[in-house]
Amino acid sequence: MNISEIYRQKLLSIPEAVGKVQSHQTIGVAMAASEPPGLLTELGKHRDRLEDVKVWVCLPLGAYDFVLDPSMEGHFFVENWFYGVADRKVHSQGRESYIPNNLHEAASRKLYAAKNHVNVYFGTATPPDSRGFLSLSLGLVIEKQLIEAADLVIIEVNENLPRTHGDTQLHISEVDYLVENHVPPAQLQPTVPSEAEESIGGYIAEMIEDGSTLQLGIGGIPNAITSFMLNRRDLGIHTEMFTDGMVDLYEAGVITNKRKTQWKGKMVGAFALGTQKLYDFINDNPGVEFQQGSVTNDPYVIGRNYKMVSINTALQVDLMGQVCSQSIGNRHFSGTGGQLDTHRGAQLSEGGRGIIALRSTAKNGALSTIVPMLSEGAEVTVPSHDVDTIVTEYGVADLKGLCLRDRASALIKIAAPQFRDQLKEEIQRLGIVPRM
Ligand code: COA
Repeated sequence: MNISEIYRQKLLSIPEAVGKVQSHQTIGVAMAASEPPGLLTELGKHRDRLEDVKVWVCLPLGAYDFVLDPSMEGHFFVENWFYGVADRKVHSQGRESYIPNNLHEAASRKLYAAKNHVNVYFGTATPPDSRGFLSLSLGLVIEKQLIEAADLVIIEVNENLPRTHGDTQLHISEVDYLVENHVPPAQLQPTVPSEAEESIGGYIAEMIEDGSTLQLGIGGIPNAITSFMLNRRDLGIHTEMFTDGMVDLYEAGVITNKRKTQWKGKMVGAFALGTQKLYDFINDNPGVEFQQGSVTNDPYVIGRNYKMVSINTALQVDLMGQVCSQSIGNRHFSGTGGQLDTHRGAQLSEGGRGIIALRSTAKNGALSTIVPMLSEGAEVTVPSHDVDTIVTEYGVADLKGLCLRDRASALIKIAAPQFRDQLKEEIQRLGIVPRM
């Protein structure tokens, strides 16, 4: 049978495909720009025939009824590895909860906890090529592990998705049903850097030597700093997330991947989220290698890169060096993702450095993000014993190996000036006398 014939036999309408889901089942969903908007929009319409369906998602981008609509209570429960905007609202309503994890072992841990059972996989891919291979395109973090574990694999085919290189191939024989939905892929627009972010970018650029390999995390700051690296040479990319800023650096001749010690000549990462510029760049580009999150984010794999520098963002850092990047107090905000993986991996690398960059204030200067103690309920993303370098617009605190007294001093020096005296007083009340 030829591939077109197999394709036709597996093709269903979106309602027919979602009709395969039964009550009490678990659905594993592809993440971020790989999520299948057609299947997920349809899911909520099956509320009345479904109860107790568990849906595992990660960084969902769309606004879907099965998540947002209170009448879905009892019909669907969302377990989420990394929150997006909509999830923050639903969290306290009891229909959604967060799965703590490090990204490199996210899928395997969850599969283990579920006794390796995913009933249905919902994902996206390109149409098959003449040999029957679809490309998983924009996401490979947890997708292949979920596909291998699922009883039923349902793929939303989208001809607008880029065909990407690496471990992204999925043969049509591994797919049970296909649906078609040729919509533009979800995009994330870069933000314009603020003055504070520009200063942070300047400090970070000074720490990056020619020939380094970079990981850039999610959020405004990692993207903002790329413009400060235009005079560096022969940088490489080993990341979790491919971003627009990397395309700019490649096109400016800064990223060559020539001096990398693994995947030489190629950028390596696990998912892409950005604008159409990024998606055009990675389309059929043999210089961009997608590998599974269990590979890209394994700290020991990251650590084999020479001069590996990870750059991630946080919401709060306390004076002992505990980093919170995933909650605002007890309000869950995002997730650990690959922050601890990459921060640890960078420190395992010869000449490497783990950087956490944050603006020194939040809420238009009303709050210091450098605090004596993390807020009640805050989740620690990087523990104090793992932390390396913290950067704000006021400078760099190199915390590795420093005792608590010296950490407090180094962090107070990079706090916003109007909060420094108060920080000194409060830390002394906690029994630590900073050396200023
Ligand atoms: N107290 C109260 N509110 C705070 C705050 C604090 N200490 N720090 C930030 N906020 C508010 C900001 O004011 C902003 O609110 P607004 O949207 O109303 O303006 C909001 O929280 C988001 O802050 P911002 O710094 O703009 O977020 P970001 O989009 O740059 O993302 C993280 C930053 C930390 C949330 C994001 O990087 C993250 O989730 N990191 C963890 C995972 C990770 O790093 N993975 C790495 C591999 S991809």
